[in-house]
Amino acid sequence: ALVSSKEILMKAQQEGYAVGAFNAENMEMVQAIVAAAEELSSPVIIQTTPGSLQYADTDMFFGMVNAEAKKAKVPVALHLDHGNSAELCAKAILSGYTSIMIDGSKLAFSENVALTKKVVEFAHAMGVPVEGELGTVGGKEDTHEVKDSEKSYTDPEEAKEFAEQTGVDFLAVGIGNAHGFYKGVPKLRFDILEKTKSLVSIPIVLHGASGIPDEDVKKSTGLGICKVNFATELRDAFTKGVKEYIEKNPEVFDPKKYNGAGREKVKELIKHKMHVLNSVHKA
Ligand code: 13P
Ligand code: ZN
Ligand code: NA
Repeated sequence: ALVSSKEILMKAQQEGYAVGAFNAENMEMVQAIVAAAEELSSPVIIQTTPGSLQYADTDMFFGMVNAEAKKAKVPVALHLDHGNSAELCAKAILSGYTSIMIDGSKLAFSENVALTKKVVEFAHAMGVPVEGELGTVGGKEDTHEVKDSEKSYTDPEEAKEFAEQTGVDFLAVGIGNAHGFYKGVPKLRFDILEKTKSLVSIPIVLHGASGIPDEDVKKSTGLGICKVNFATELRDAFTKGVKEYIEKNPEVFDPKKYNGAGREKVKELIKHKMHVLNSVHKA
């Protein structure tokens, strides 16, 4: 069933596991995400970035996710990832998204608070929970790029103020995590996460999880992380599945065949991540 992300994440927080938030780019990825969740009886969040929404809009993704969620036994949420304007947040809500993120992390603290608070006011009036971000996630996603020189860790005291002043439901943090694959092994600042967790009561979100070793993802879920975002590894798995199929079967021109191979690879990857997050049998 299609449900609110808040319902999914409050249960995860209470029971001490994390839920994967998987970025979908097309129908096959939506199907793969829901099929993995159904097979493992895991709650799941599907999300789309502004870049993906330029390729296919919020109504299209809502339609695909709703079609799969309706027949699923497990809870499925649809989330706007890295919302870059109040307008896009409103559009997603009107299409039926069950949570949104407003990403003001590149703004000064007071401007981030003002923008996030404004979005929280109308989203909550519509019954939709909001994710905010304080501190920056490195790397590049869509056109949103954070250079190493601009990278900043979340300040735990500021995180407390940010949560109180904005009324956000979930908080994304910057603890050395970055979008895309990492150069070398990422060094996450678990000390910052622990301090933040001790000051902030809402579920905390880890972005940039592609490339973070399983043990570190696991460790972070024990320290207050309830939502873990995966995008790059899914795109990589899908593309590898398609390429392998076409290389082996160069005569095939039926998209169902090669896209189906991509879909299978994504499903296997997601099942592995659900075990790492300990969300299996939690639906
Ligand atoms: P990765 O692409 O590193 O998995 O990051 C995903 C993400 O944070 C989506 O918001
Ligand atoms: Zn992200
Ligand atoms: Na990453």
